[in-house]
Amino acid sequence: MGNTVLSVTNVNKSFGGLRALSSIDLQIEEGKTHAIIGPNGAGKSTLLNVCVGKIEPDTGSVVFDGKNLTGKKPHEINQAGVARVFQTPEIFPELSLLQNVMVSAFAKRDGSFRLNAIRSLLSEKALHDEAEHMLEDVGLKDLIHHESGSLSRGDKRRLELAMCLIQHPRLLLLDEPTAGMSRHDTNGTIDLLKRIKERGMTKVIIEHDMHVVFSLADRISVLAQGAIIASGTPDEIRGNPKVQEAYLGGAH
Ligand SMILES: Nc1ncnc2c1ncn2[C@@H]1O[C@H](COP(=O)(O)OP(=O)(O)OP(=O)(O)O)[C@@H](O)[C@H]1O
Ligand SMILES: [Mg+2]
Repeated sequence: MGNTVLSVTNVNKSFGGLRALSSIDLQIEEGKTHAIIGPNGAGKSTLLNVCVGKIEPDTGSVVFDGKNLTGKKPHEINQAGVARVFQTPEIFPELSLLQNVMVSAFAKRDGSFRLNAIRSLLSEKALHDEAEHMLEDVGLKDLIHHESGSLSRGDKRRLELAMCLIQHPRLLLLDEPTAGMSRHDTNGTIDLLKRIKERGMTKVIIEHDMHVVFSLADRISVLAQGAIIASGTPDEIRGNPKVQEAYLGGAH
């Protein structure tokens, strides 16, 4: 085992009578891509939201890079080096793509959105160039001055990826990054995520598309009804009868 960069221990979370997460233990290794799969409503997004401070767990802890982040605010976790792409894109629709990426860089530095500071930042040449480079990296260079709200769902995902990349996170959490994309764009995203991996970035990816999962994952954990029912290499997961019964068998 390599260095553990994120450690989730005994996390439980209920919504009223519904147990969304049940005694979750998960270790994410540095530099690896760890996929979390499972049927709709299994608790995947809830787990990710606990990791980024959007949802407070009822019990348990989230430790990142040796620091206990349980109960910390989302911007504190972001500043610690964790970036995320949510299931529903979170962008400023009235700003251009370029402005969204620059604001994201600023949000990590400052933890808030102060308008005057943003205005001066938007004219910063180095940041402008880097934002442009990030948008080129995700294949959106031709659209940098377009209003972000007018993008297709797939392009919004790619914009969000650029917004994450400019933060140079140590850990990138992605909730269905290829949802709403054409097969062509999905393959482009797979290539991009492979390139990010070469730069040493650790990733956790929630994904329904098994082509994406098996193209990228070093390890896979399977969630069903709030519990991790299996964790292993892609080959181990493919051959696991419990997984086939709970998920793969039903979906394919
Ligand atoms: N804020 C909330 N309040 C009440 N129930 C919630 C809340 N968030 C999630 N749930 C419930 O918790 C369960 C797990 O939801 P979650 O969104 O984590 O599943 P998921 O695995 O991400 O599903 P999908 O693949 O459809 O995105 C579901 O039954 C969902 O309805
Ligand atoms: Mg989800």
